[in-house]
Amino acid sequence: MSHTGEILSNEVLKDKYCRAVFRAPEICEKAEPGHFVHVMIPSMRDRILRRPFSICHAGGSQLTIVYKVVGRGTEELSRLKPGEKCDFMGPLGVPFSLPVEDEIPVIVAGGYGAAATYMISERSKNKGYLLLGARTEKDLILTDNYKNNGFEVRVATEDGAVGTKGLVTVLVKELLEENKGKNLKFYGCGPHGMLLALGELLITNEIDGELSMDQMMCCGIGACFACVVKVKDNNPDGWRYARTCKEGPVFKASDVYYGRT
Ligand code: FES
Repeated sequence: MSHTGEILSNEVLKDKYCRAVFRAPEICEKAEPGHFVHVMIPSMRDRILRRPFSICHAGGSQLTIVYKVVGRGTEELSRLKPGEKCDFMGPLGVPFSLPVEDEIPVIVAGGYGAAATYMISERSKNKGYLLLGARTEKDLILTDNYKNNGFEVRVATEDGAVGTKGLVTVLVKELLEENKGKNLKFYGCGPHGMLLALGELLITNEIDGELSMDQMMCCGIGACFACVVKVKDNNPDGWRYARTCKEGPVFKASDVYYGRT
């Protein structure tokens, strides 16, 4: 079922990253952390395909998405002005589950993966950590927003411009070492390679987590199989394809197939 969302604001957040706020009460009502929406951009109706965007914030009637301008779809989106309308499907997918009891949330994000996990920092009663990895300083977004929600933010950049030099998994290893015996609940969102590395690290440490494995999506409703990832299975191969738009995008780290059974 689709809904109409009216643009309230659409502005540059930082460098190529933008933030669009829509009035979309029907979607906000049901949105949970990790859900996504499938958006038809008015000037691209000829192309038929919708574009998937993670929900960054949903409160009252206002829905926020954060996106990076990387191609025609996001360029067209960045040109939309307040008052213009888009057609939305959503909220779609399997969301993250919030921490319970004494679980300490540890969000591990790569680049604008931090947008898809942001609602965890808003809605979790327990406060924890954001471990954010990016290529360079330009790709670090929403860090102050996480801090304002009570999360400690640690950063790794590949060029070493800010924070630890290297990959975000370095920060994960440090945090695990510091917090032995504590009940950490891990969440991941970012590039596929980062998520596989994070998942394997968690399994090695006998900790489970939830990973948003979103892939390029076409239909968004389970019909085209464009969005598959490998998950464990009891068949002789030990794995099968799962549609991230339908069975995900959030999967348990222990359900993801890492190339061995
Ligand atoms: Fe078509 Fe997932 S996007 S099956």
